[in-house]
Amino acid sequence: MVKRYAIILAAGKSTRFKSDTPKIMHRLCGKHMMLHVLDKLQDLQIEKTFLIVNQVTKELMEVVSPYEVHFIEQTKQLGTGHALLAAASQLKSLTGTLLVLCADTPLIRVKTLQQILETCETQNTDQVVLTTSLSNPSGYGRILRDTNGKAIDIIEEKEISNEQATIHEINTGVICLKIPSLLKGLPHLTPSEQSGEYYLTDLFRILLDQGKKVTTLTTDYPDEALGVNNREQLSIIEMKLRNKIVQKWMLNGVTFLDPSSVYVDVSATIGSDTVIYPGVIIEGSSKIGAGCVVHGFSHLKNAVLEDGVVVDHCSIIRDSSIGRQTRVGPFAHLRQNCIVGHESRIGNFVEVKQSQIGNKTKAAHLSYLGNAEIGNQVNIGAGTITCNYDGKQKHTTVIEDEVFVGSGSQLIAPVTLEKKAYIAAGSTITEDVPKQSLGIARQKQVNRPGWTNDKTKKKKK
Ligand code: UD1
Ligand code: CA
Repeated sequence: MVKRYAIILAAGKSTRFKSDTPKIMHRLCGKHMMLHVLDKLQDLQIEKTFLIVNQVTKELMEVVSPYEVHFIEQTKQLGTGHALLAAASQLKSLTGTLLVLCADTPLIRVKTLQQILETCETQNTDQVVLTTSLSNPSGYGRILRDTNGKAIDIIEEKEISNEQATIHEINTGVICLKIPSLLKGLPHLTPSEQSGEYYLTDLFRILLDQGKKVTTLTTDYPDEALGVNNREQLSIIEMKLRNKIVQKWMLNGVTFLDPSSVYVDVSATIGSDTVIYPGVIIEGSSKIGAGCVVHGFSHLKNAVLEDGVVVDHCSIIRDSSIGRQTRVGPFAHLRQNCIVGHESRIGNFVEVKQSQIGNKTKAAHLSYLGNAEIGNQVNIGAGTITCNYDGKQKHTTVIEDEVFVGSGSQLIAPVTLEKKAYIAAGSTITEDVPKQSLGIARQKQVNRPGWTNDKTKKKKK
């Protein structure tokens, strides 16, 4: 089999994007734009993938680290043709086919890439260009055909005549080439008089003039041609991708009450029979189990929910995991590596930070639990606060199994409430409470009989 190589063009200046960050590093449904394209190459038996970038930054290396790519720096961005010229020395010793992709066309399908590779390999063709018809082709290179319908050239938008502007067939930017033919054609590229750029698209005409076989492959799924040149296009593609993600989960047995209002990142997973209410956001590597319910306007980021978890309205769960059948919310906030056990309850206006909570434990109302290690079957009364910060350092509160913390208590960390301890409501606990003991730390109540009557009499005088 002929060897396959791929090149992703990602060095562009992103002028139209108006951003300090290169556009390929912007995210679509939670994933860097460029990785959407890299993902598509994974099952195509590609021998080596080159990534043409402006500069190999630390951040870029980190982002692409899960993939095997060879960077090529194109220090001056003089166009897509110039990008391939920058790669020429690396391609020199190679034979086989080269798939050229733009990093800004994230909706391209694996099926189509497979097809263009096969067309190039089996039909003895030197160059195949993927085209499609767009109802609004503006901004894209147009395909020129002769009277017999044979493609003869690609004209860039910047160079186009009024008549050519009416052509709807466009260059998607996906091109497949025989490497030796590419290398013969490349030196003939010249910069455009209009823009000073070297257009890769000029290669079509050059190879044709050199007597090579050049052809087109047309996809009738125009979405895969959509390029992201500005923020408006970013939002359009984000929406399309989002719809596809939600559709995938619906076909896997997830109910969405209003799919159009839900945001699910491409890397999140959702189990069957889970119900997602309107306005929910599920980001990052969140893993939602089966039979869960996530109520409206809740926001999950890198959250793991085991089966049967209910997240009530307007709750936020970040970087935390929740055990099976536990109920969270409404208006709960869990963050920074919280681990909550099964059949527990984290209720209204409860904030939990960097804490572990056992099984069948309840903190049903209005509490702050930070840097706490809480056991099984614990009851945290309404308004309980772990006072974990002394202004300099964070301290741990340990609450062992079956402890009962009465409402309105403050637990001044570091402090331990041993097994089955019972904290009287309204206590300010500064010392450890031994097992099975009552901890009571508040002023004794004083009642003054007749006091209100005496007060009224004084006023009348
Ligand atoms: C390009 C095509 C156009 C096609 C469209 C499809 C050319 C000349 N034009 O236009 O025919 O319809 O894509 O989306 O090829 N890049 C570099 N180095 C550079 C310039 C660009 O690596 O010097 C990269 C960009 O990062 C981008 C890709 O090449 O990923 C395409 O560049 P862009 O400027 O977006 O080209 P378009 O104007 O969209
Ligand atoms: Ca583009």
